[in-house]
Amino acid sequence: MMLKIEKILSPNEVQACRAIVDAGEWVDGNETSGHQSRLAKRNAQLKEGSDAAREAGQLILAALGRSPTFVAAALPLKVFPPLFNRYQGGQAFGNHVDNAMRQLRGSEFRIRSDLSCTLFLEDPENYEGGELVVEDLFGEHRVKLAAGDAVLYSAASIHRVTPVTGGTRTACFFWLQSMVRENEAREQLFRLDRSVQTLSAERGGGDPLVVELTNLYHNLLRRWGDA
Ligand code: NI
Repeated sequence: MMLKIEKILSPNEVQACRAIVDAGEWVDGNETSGHQSRLAKRNAQLKEGSDAAREAGQLILAALGRSPTFVAAALPLKVFPPLFNRYQGGQAFGNHVDNAMRQLRGSEFRIRSDLSCTLFLEDPENYEGGELVVEDLFGEHRVKLAAGDAVLYSAASIHRVTPVTGGTRTACFFWLQSMVRENEAREQLFRLDRSVQTLSAERGGGDPLVVELTNLYHNLLRRWGDA
């Protein structure tokens, strides 16, 4: 499942976030790469673990935590601290896979990457190229969203960022471990959750059918999920 989540950040929050990251220290993007992706990656990255990365990352994670769509779709258990990257002057990130396991440098914190999330911090009309392209069995999905919008997609995918041939693409990205490991199971839960929300808005939360389906949702989450 690929999911677009609009307006995670307001225009003011995008500005605040950009002010923090633009003033930070940027390094070669390959500092965080695995072996395969190192061959494909050409970009700059806000220094991992820097004050700027931490501050902007917290702002974004707080905003995501307030998004019912994000929470219902991702069912996050552990979130890797957000990273920030920048592409310009023809820079790109060729086809690659994200590491299945991520350990935070200098700590015991480790996650299994189930989902990847990219949050755009520059409006699409301000740069050329720079599409996130995600491949699955149906083909390619091309994503280039408004500043403040995010896309959530399976970390198990092959994906790339096309060359940025004009302007600068700035984005935040991170991985998370979901309470529900299997993408298929998580997607069914998300669909059920959305249906229950709709039904509940129509009939009220105390409606017997709403109660029954809410019970079903939680029993499936109990069966498939880890806490
Ligand atoms: Ni990647």
